[in-house]
Amino acid sequence: MRTQHKIIFGSSQRMTELADSSVHLMVTSPPYPMIEMWDSLFAKMDLSIAELWRKLEAERREENVTQIYEHMHGNLAEVWREAHRVLVDGGIACINIGDTVRTVNGSFRLFANHSKIIEHCERIGFTTLPYILWKKPTTKPKYNGKGAFLGSGFLPPNAYVTLDCEFILLFRKGKLRRFQPHDQRRYDSAFEKSERDEWFSQIWTLTGARQTESQLERRIAAFPEELANRLVRMFSVKGDTVLDPFLGSGTTAIAAMRNERNSIGYEVDESLLPLITKKLVLGQQKVSLRHEK
Ligand SMILES: C[S@@+](CC[C@H](N)C(=O)[O-])C[C@H]1O[C@@H](n2cnc3c(N)ncnc32)[C@H](O)[C@@H]1O
Repeated sequence: MRTQHKIIFGSSQRMTELADSSVHLMVTSPPYPMIEMWDSLFAKMDLSIAELWRKLEAERREENVTQIYEHMHGNLAEVWREAHRVLVDGGIACINIGDTVRTVNGSFRLFANHSKIIEHCERIGFTTLPYILWKKPTTKPKYNGKGAFLGSGFLPPNAYVTLDCEFILLFRKGKLRRFQPHDQRRYDSAFEKSERDEWFSQIWTLTGARQTESQLERRIAAFPEELANRLVRMFSVKGDTVLDPFLGSGTTAIAAMRNERNSIGYEVDESLLPLITKKLVLGQQKVSLRHEK
């Protein structure tokens, strides 16, 4: 099946190119709020966040930190609202997100990003479905926010549990998706019993980093192709359109392409174009590139 893959360079906070109810599935991973590597992007995308960091420097108040965190999620929620608009009735939204711990302004805090996203998505009108925990093998145990246990031994009570799982949150717009009786696309898209048993269980153990992963893919925290592959096959049928509003290196688009789905990706960082096009192997499929400034 010939499929189409569109990349739009611009912010997904306004997906004006997409009509209401025109997308069947969203698979995505946003920048994670309160993880240092994304601080500058959030501040660049929203000057009020940059201003709040300055306010924190000047005032050193705990509520400044909370305001920054809330603003970051407010920004992401604009994308979730747009996703709700463009999804068809019964369309599924899959959001990969990690919680984080951080000492800001001298205080240690857990930033439970997954719960903030659930809160926002439910307010927007999504139904929350049972989610997946992606267990990552790489994270080292931490001791009181100061790095690995090292020589600090086995003494209670100041160590904390390692955040070695990320969430794959699942939401549905409206009621179950409807198909005509005996719609062949569903049968052609069926998964195997072994796939079903593994994919629909709550804990996934996938290697976070693939052997071939490049420096750039690590910098933007690309998720493994297998993760996108499973979600595309679990929640869409051949010929559907899959959206990734935070495209990064294009992992969702390649999973869609490999599984005979169309894709649309939004990305603000134009320097990722060579990496995305390399992944999509331009020329093998019809790829239309559109730049939005
Ligand atoms: C965590 S990375 C996504 C990684 C991707 N799943 C992959 O496998 O390569 C998040 C991406 O979202 C992009 N981004 C952040 N805010 C955006 C926005 N408002 N609109 C579009 N892209 C955005 C960042 O530049 C970054 O490449």
